[in-house]
Amino acid sequence: MAQGKRHALITGSSRGIGRGIALALAADSVKIAIHYYRNESAARDTLAQVRKRGADGVLVQADVTDPAQITAMFGKLKAEFGKLDVFVSNARPEVPEFFRPPLEITLKQWDAAFDSQAKAFLVGVREALPLMGDGGRIFAITYAEGSRTGGLQPWVGMGSAKAAMESLVRYFAVAVAKRGITVNALSPGWTEDSVLNTLPEQAQDLIRNWHASGWTPMGRLGTPEDIGNVVALFCSDKARWITGQVIYVDGGASLMNPEVPPEIQIG
Ligand SMILES: NC(=O)c1ccc[n+]([C@@H]2O[C@H](COP(=O)([O-])OP(=O)(O)OC[C@H]3O[C@@H](n4cnc5c(N)ncnc54)[C@H](OP(=O)(O)O)[C@@H]3O)[C@@H](O)[C@H]2O)c1
Repeated sequence: MAQGKRHALITGSSRGIGRGIALALAADSVKIAIHYYRNESAARDTLAQVRKRGADGVLVQADVTDPAQITAMFGKLKAEFGKLDVFVSNARPEVPEFFRPPLEITLKQWDAAFDSQAKAFLVGVREALPLMGDGGRIFAITYAEGSRTGGLQPWVGMGSAKAAMESLVRYFAVAVAKRGITVNALSPGWTEDSVLNTLPEQAQDLIRNWHASGWTPMGRLGTPEDIGNVVALFCSDKARWITGQVIYVDGGASLMNPEVPPEIQIG
């Protein structure tokens, strides 16, 4: 990616994983567009933390399930930044807006999943590309376990939407390869300081203990900083030959065999 002053837009960077990505790029002096939906105070807090790292940024607001609002957000970005080096599609609606099993999910919930993931990525990338010079970086934040499996039944809408987005990653990667722009999906495992912390305490404890006891070979959940660091790594020119991939960023959790209890696997 071209060096000099770099600019990034991270959707859903008011909190959670998006914030971790914003702070990791800020530590590399990237100017950040911090996107939020309803939580302006959280976005302001991210901006304060970006500034503490010696970078700067602006706030942008949009409902990513509405393509017109995505287009308006990029219009603002063009006026503020004039260019873009990194685009991260990370935002995801609140869980009740899509979380329902296949026999019950409403079409509204199905649309919330697809509009916020596959369609928002389609629209966002097409808006980002005219602002991007050769060597730009595009990321989709996915949850590949949800797009590959069927066990967590109420995830059907989001899992299907993430699968469609992962497919788009491959098509876009080919479409922009000649410009040296890379397009990759990053798949975090369960991550602290994110949607996890909105679950009931008992569910949080079950998930944490399961991972600490071996399901994640590294013995802990991920952090927004872990995910942000990988985005920063991929923004290096040294990552220019990796494109169109789904990269697991999960401390090894995806290596475990779901048919065998972890105690036996790790020995
Ligand atoms: N957390 C995990 O363990 C985990 C694991 C794998 C993958 N992921 C993926 O990582 C991404 C971030 O997850 P997270 O847990 O960090 O999220 P989170 O903490 O729940 O934050 C969600 C973010 O999305 C924004 N948002 C919500 N609804 C929106 C809408 N309609 N339009 C635009 N923005 C909207 C929120 O903005 P406001 O603050 O303004 O509401 C917030 O910035 C998601 O794509 C998720 O699927 C997460």
